[in-house]
Amino acid sequence: METVVSGIRPTGNLHLGNYFGMVRNSVKMQSEYNCFFFVADYHSLTTHPHPKDLHNTVRYVVAEYLGCGIDPEKSTLYVQSDIPETTELYLFLNMLSYVGELERSTSFKEKVRSQPDNVNAGLLTYPTLMSADILLHKALKVPVGKDQTQHLEFARNFAQRFNNLYEVDYFPLPQAFSFTNELVKVPGLNGIGKMGKSEGEGNAIFLIDEPDVIRKKVMRAVTDTGPTQMNQEKPEPVQNLFKLMQLVSSGETIKHFDEAYNNCTIRYGDLKKQLAEDMIQFTTPIREKVKEYYADSALLHKILFMGEEKARTSAQKTIKEVREIIGFRKF
Ligand code: TRP
Repeated sequence: METVVSGIRPTGNLHLGNYFGMVRNSVKMQSEYNCFFFVADYHSLTTHPHPKDLHNTVRYVVAEYLGCGIDPEKSTLYVQSDIPETTELYLFLNMLSYVGELERSTSFKEKVRSQPDNVNAGLLTYPTLMSADILLHKALKVPVGKDQTQHLEFARNFAQRFNNLYEVDYFPLPQAFSFTNELVKVPGLNGIGKMGKSEGEGNAIFLIDEPDVIRKKVMRAVTDTGPTQMNQEKPEPVQNLFKLMQLVSSGETIKHFDEAYNNCTIRYGDLKKQLAEDMIQFTTPIREKVKEYYADSALLHKILFMGEEKARTSAQKTIKEVREIIGFRKF
């Protein structure tokens, strides 16, 4: 079986964008691949979370992974910081990472802009740490959202460079993966761009949002004044609502509103009401499971203990081999 690795940074709750961007793919991959899913808590240190928040956000991500259907019997579910072998591979890969290429990374440049007071070296080497996560288990496929494409390119470059430098065929070159050929981009509710937690209050629907919260957010979504001509092209905010419908609503519902749009009888209020109810129907079973997992400390402990053991076995094997390849030897 091919190996799959993916991680989520614990910087907030998961929203529909995360779900359709990567979590859904991850869940589907479990039965066909040897999967490692982890909470990227080392990565979150690049934005200096408060020590009193860190543990709880990790707990949420674990509960959310499980609530979405990650099965700890099938997959290896672990917390990145439980496997310090990650940091050793990170160190080795840092020797293969050029400052110039890291500085050109889009996500680094964005961070320099968004947090100018905290441009730490961890931000610069974020792609190196992410590559360590992936190469630690010699993964071939990485289910991620579209925004991670460049990071995957780094991982392939580092793997290739390692292989070239040490004249080995050791690391496979990992690829971003999605079941649908296209990497999904889920729009937000503010009319423009993708769903994200940093795009402003109300733009994202979180998996654990209560029904009333979902209704409020969707009813406030940006639309326009409505079509005035038959079969008119939909403006972006309206297209976005239809894209969201495509994710959670039935074909019949979509057809109904599409026809209403095309013959100018659409009432956006009705469309939003329906969209909200379909989102609620979609997220409710997930939300209920997340809450159950989140509250069950004993179960979380058991699951993460098992995950840690499995992840460590794989990580230690890689580190041992990598050390031998680099030339470290005991005296
Ligand atoms: N960078 C990813 C994100 O922000 C999270 C991540 C860290 C990751 N390490 C990874 C994803 C390894 C896939 C594989 O979403």
